[in-house]
Amino acid sequence: RLSPLQFKAFSFPGPPMSDALTAVAGEAARRRTFAIISHPDAGKTTLTEKLLLFSGAIQMAGTVKGKKSGKFATSDWMEIEKQRGISVASSVMQFDYREHVVNLLDTPGHQDFSEDTYRVLTAVDAALMVIDAAKGVEAQTIKLLNVCRLRTTPIVTFMNKYDREVRDSLELLDEVENVLNIRCAPITWPIGMGKTFRGVYHLMNDQVMLFEAGQDIADQLVSEVIQGIDNPRLDELFPLEMAQLRMEIELVKGASNEFDLEAFLAGELTPVFFGSAINNFGVREILNALVDWAPPPSPRDASVRMVDPSEEKFSGFVFKIQANMDPKHRDRIAFMRVCSGRFERGMKMKHLRLNRDIAASSVVTFMAHDREIVEEAFAGDIIGIPNHGNIQIGDSFSEGEALQFTGIPFFAPELFRSVRIRNPLKIKQLHKGLQQLGEEGAVQVFKPANGADLILGAVGVLQFEVVAHRLQTEYGVEAVFDPCQIYTARWVSCDDARMLNDFEKALVNNVAIDAAGSLAYLAPNRVNLDLTQERWPKVVFHETREHA
Ligand code: G4P
Repeated sequence: RLSPLQFKAFSFPGPPMSDALTAVAGEAARRRTFAIISHPDAGKTTLTEKLLLFSGAIQMAGTVKGKKSGKFATSDWMEIEKQRGISVASSVMQFDYREHVVNLLDTPGHQDFSEDTYRVLTAVDAALMVIDAAKGVEAQTIKLLNVCRLRTTPIVTFMNKYDREVRDSLELLDEVENVLNIRCAPITWPIGMGKTFRGVYHLMNDQVMLFEAGQDIADQLVSEVIQGIDNPRLDELFPLEMAQLRMEIELVKGASNEFDLEAFLAGELTPVFFGSAINNFGVREILNALVDWAPPPSPRDASVRMVDPSEEKFSGFVFKIQANMDPKHRDRIAFMRVCSGRFERGMKMKHLRLNRDIAASSVVTFMAHDREIVEEAFAGDIIGIPNHGNIQIGDSFSEGEALQFTGIPFFAPELFRSVRIRNPLKIKQLHKGLQQLGEEGAVQVFKPANGADLILGAVGVLQFEVVAHRLQTEYGVEAVFDPCQIYTARWVSCDDARMLNDFEKALVNNVAIDAAGSLAYLAPNRVNLDLTQERWPKVVFHETREHA
């Protein structure tokens, strides 16, 4: 097991930086950019707020987001619409902690697993997974972990709600290991639970942190710390429990994995913390772990070459687009992850797909309390670019060099609807609306080779409701969505252009072009998909599409 000293030696270099590092490299090295992921109701919103409280970004819980603003059921959509401003600001939060700049990205909290979530996870360097310890690993947790695994994103785990009756802690670790296929290294260990929750024991520091039901005010966040599991003070406090606890700790030390930074960075092992978000308990330990262990921004693949965060020249890519405060004006905010260099207010940056310079004067950043005009940003930071629809998900920006960052995926939709409109005179508005919503990534739009009705594809059913609502309010179009006989979509490609042409002709009733102009095969059922793949062995069927 690691001594506290070794524990410290593991940390990434934080400032003050050695002279060898340039200012840009130093700024990049002190960035930590992570997403917070969980099954709904595990406590993501609560924990987010407590992280901000501990960092000092806010003084009192409840000031950043309304309790429920991070999640919404279908019926809440209208309300969310009103609160767009809040949700834009609160989906990315930046704060300082221990001389580091932390960027925290929220993932959509609703039941429908949307593509947005996948793409947010492409923009982070680590993820914080929150598990409701009474429930264990849930459906959404599994899906999210699988996405993190695509990019071997390091995961920190928080077992939440120990102020309640929860499941056996060893059993929970076992479940994480077996179901999520990731080794667990407990860093803290809970002492009791529910009414007899006493605190946590820090396995690396040999300290017991005593639990006290939390306040929502920043300067009341200190809990009593007792050094050493053999400290007699513990026997005084919990005379009946200590013998049992010491045995349990011995058992845990013997049976569980030790923390291993390399395995963590490779996404193979997760440090596990226990606590209660609502009581602020266990939260500081997570923040420390993120700062000490989560990686700073790493080099990114930009097709022509790898781009290093410490390069002097600015570059970045857009991973998410969100309609802005005033839907009537249809302005949107493109969320860009900075990949290298320094972004400075007013600088010119090149929009590489359109091969056009844009002046970035009103670019915003996302300080915890508010949106504010950004003066400068570095690799790992997220900046928001207001625009009227010329920026798409996956677009890359630079100071001129032709870079195209890869790995920002569109996924084969699982749900399909065909679109009709009540008033045929509005067909132009419909097409314009769907084109823009398609670019925004709100839904995928397919134009069949044969047939007039557009087809919408989504990953979660809520996406359709959002699109219907936005078509009406923003484009004045009343659209009707009908179920249609499509099982799934596959983007197709083939080295032999003539063969692809033959494929298109032979399957004219099943092919379509998506919003980015890519050819897709829409399979009516699984059998058909298999048969078609067998019949056209040279055609490649892709489950994901990256930026065209
Ligand atoms: P989410 O964003 O992951 O969906 O979860 P959220 O933070 O909204 O928390 C879901 C519920 O769990 C909330 O209760 C919240 O108060 C509760 N919760 C979060 N952390 C803890 C904890 O450490 N201990 C306990 N006991 N509960 C916790 P709710 O009933 O949905 O809302 P409310 O009635 O408390 O407002």
